[in-house]
Amino acid sequence: PKLIFEKPDGHEVQVVADVGVSVMQVAVDNGIDEILAECGGACSCATCHCYISESCLDSIEPPAEIESEMLDCVLEKKVNSRLSCQVIVNENMEGLRVILPDSQF
Ligand code: FES
Repeated sequence: PKLIFEKPDGHEVQVVADVGVSVMQVAVDNGIDEILAECGGACSCATCHCYISESCLDSIEPPAEIESEMLDCVLEKKVNSRLSCQVIVNENMEGLRVILPDSQF
């Protein structure tokens, strides 16, 4: 599916993602600098924080408990905050919009 990354300055980057990989990996592979992902996807750094457009939340699984706990550590948590390493791309994500935070910490 095609994912849309929205940068803090409003600039958009559209990428075609493979099913089964994490949104974090898609971001890193496509040079999206806002996703730092210091722990490499182990759900222990919270530097892969992003916001999923609220209209797209239905197409993804809600966060597991470990992710919810880590989300309490992010700079500006919102209802649509997610750790991108824990969001796995599926077929229903066509047009999913990933809004990138100004800063990870
Ligand atoms: Fe570290 Fe997602 S990459 S929590």
